[in-house]
Amino acid sequence: MQPIIVSEHVTWVGAIDWDLRDFHGFETPRGSTYNAYIVRGADKIALVDTVKTFYVDELLSRISKVVDPAEIDLIVVNHIEPDHNSGLRDVMAACPKARVVATASGAKGVFEYHDGLVIDTVSADDVIDLGGVTLNFLPAPMVHWPDSMFTYCPEDAVLMCNDAYGQHLASAERFADEVGETDALEELRIYYANILMSLGMQIGKALEKVEAAGWKPEIIAPSHGVIWRGETVAKAVDAYRLWGSGKLLDKVVVVFSTMWGSTDTLARAIADAITAEGVDVEVYDLALTPLAHIMRDVLDSRGILIGTPTLHRGMLYRVAGFLQYLGALKAPGRIAASFGSYGWSSGATKEVDDRLTAIGIPVAQDPFTQKFRPTEAELEAARAWGAEFASKVKAAGVEQPAVEGQPAQA
Ligand code: FEO
Repeated sequence: MQPIIVSEHVTWVGAIDWDLRDFHGFETPRGSTYNAYIVRGADKIALVDTVKTFYVDELLSRISKVVDPAEIDLIVVNHIEPDHNSGLRDVMAACPKARVVATASGAKGVFEYHDGLVIDTVSADDVIDLGGVTLNFLPAPMVHWPDSMFTYCPEDAVLMCNDAYGQHLASAERFADEVGETDALEELRIYYANILMSLGMQIGKALEKVEAAGWKPEIIAPSHGVIWRGETVAKAVDAYRLWGSGKLLDKVVVVFSTMWGSTDTLARAIADAITAEGVDVEVYDLALTPLAHIMRDVLDSRGILIGTPTLHRGMLYRVAGFLQYLGALKAPGRIAASFGSYGWSSGATKEVDDRLTAIGIPVAQDPFTQKFRPTEAELEAARAWGAEFASKVKAAGVEQPAVEGQPAQA
């Protein structure tokens, strides 16, 4: 694929990772891209962001179709996570005269990751003039790591914001309107839920800083997936504002794992009762559904129900994996409870509740458990238990209309 013109002075020169299927545990069935941009002024040339080590050749090949890499004057490191930064040394070798800049914490991270590599720092006060075209900077800590930064080219109104507004979507098209707005927004949602869900407060602050700086981007060029332009810009910004607000819906995600079908049967009965209470519900068998897809629905759900039978006195391993994944994302503002069947011994639901408490999600009611196959009377009791949880979800919404995110571990 050729480089793609983004605006008068900005050209996409990134790499397409068609094969990516796992991004530190986040299932990525549609791959991803590592976007990088050449910005050309009358006097100087900048490269904003680099790529993963394996994709340096692809990046340099694409850059070479626009400019001689040896002529690049500036490399901007918006974020030091290895998907963007691991190829930095190799890119620098091809751009020997380039000054390299990042935030202060970005420079510290580059020094540590790249065995003593020293680069310069920039802050919100700095403007780099490329000759009639400028680059402005805003630190955006925790969007996605402490070092993260947004770079803005006001002459073209292009915001290069790295992970923010990204999607794990490999495609031949480079713009959201080309892949289809609905598809792009869905991938934006999945990315946000799995990478940024716990960071609503920091994202809100970053968006406020963009406004306070007077930046009015007409093009949002992230470092993953497609670029937002035209009417899709406002759609993406509105989506981030909504998710960043922490507003949750009267909605319950029911996740479960099952051995012989009893916990599955309970999940369906409980879901029916939740629906009957006027609360939206989504049901997922953890053996059949990627966690990334489940988190898409956890994003705006106030309730989470977790079903597991007891195996060796504990929960099934997929349930443990779900709780570990959920704990990393924090999911502030939700309430939860557990259910499941057991045979010769019980104990799984207690283990689930203990884990929920440990990750900071309140357990709203005692577990629902039953032995072997649920009888009709037990299913009726399960329905009543689900209805009780639905009423608590609705009540929690009245008491707590919105919550702010909390910092997560990167
Ligand atoms: Fe795309 Fe936080 O790295």
